[in-house]
Amino acid sequence: MSVRDPHRFSHELDDATTERLINRLESRANDVVFTRLFDQYANQIDFPESGRTLEIGCGTGAMIRSLVRKNNFSGEVVGVDQSAAFIEAAKGFAAEEGADEYIEFQVCDVHELDFEDDSFDVAIAHTLISHVTDPELVVKELARVLRKEGTLVIFDGDYASLTYALPDHELGRRMDHALATASFNNPLIMRDLIRMLPGVGLQVTNTLADVVSEVGSCSYFRSFAETYAPFVVSAGLMSEQEVEGWFSMLEQSIKDNTFFASCNYYTYIIKST
Ligand SMILES: C[S@@+](CC[C@H](N)C(=O)[O-])C[C@H]1O[C@@H](n2cnc3c(N)ncnc32)[C@H](O)[C@@H]1O
Repeated sequence: MSVRDPHRFSHELDDATTERLINRLESRANDVVFTRLFDQYANQIDFPESGRTLEIGCGTGAMIRSLVRKNNFSGEVVGVDQSAAFIEAAKGFAAEEGADEYIEFQVCDVHELDFEDDSFDVAIAHTLISHVTDPELVVKELARVLRKEGTLVIFDGDYASLTYALPDHELGRRMDHALATASFNNPLIMRDLIRMLPGVGLQVTNTLADVVSEVGSCSYFRSFAETYAPFVVSAGLMSEQEVEGWFSMLEQSIKDNTFFASCNYYTYIIKST
């Protein structure tokens, strides 16, 4: 057994796991607990008229569909992801919404983008950078494909802060760490990014910091737990019995309305120089 961030290996998953992740990406995209953070930065982006936007690691295209519905959006958008199954789903969802006219999807590894230098006015990495094999290489690729003065947004969690509160504090602490380790190849990347950007010609113009938290009732964190707790067991970080025990306490806190979970998220708004 070994730790395998499922999104890092999304192109190698079995059908059932792929389906579980597709459902999670779509349910998350409909959860206001989370979508407000996308809206917060996307509403501020100055999209040039007829400009080109890129989302790397677009998954099922949920953020792209949300983007093209916005009043400030202009131009066309390309979404890339390494998972052919996610891209297939993304094409289907976009067609269902009639949004496919403005969107192109492509299967590609974000460490080696299949685009010319200076191809895009705007690039977005929404909960991608915590999963990739080599974040520094991905940032370099983004700097390469962005036009001078182009805008880059990198959004992700700082997963040292991911926490579910349980009456058993020790079990809770171990599970928090195991969940972050099993689910994210780079759980602390949002702390490292600030040192990585200047060296590749990217200048941070603003940062946003947010706490996503649910106290009492929950939706976002329940879906997160259901999706990712099985990976803690398959990675051998905790036993099935321990994770089941953790789950029962969580279920009890949901029934009692004593649920508590939280995680910090950061947005870097960046200019290409
Ligand atoms: C948490 S999902 C985010 C999806 C989408 N941005 C959203 O917010 O709904 C992370 C995505 O990154 C993709 N991914 C991870 N590593 C990748 C790589 N090296 N190349 C391309 N896509 C990658 C996964 O397939 C997955 O779709």
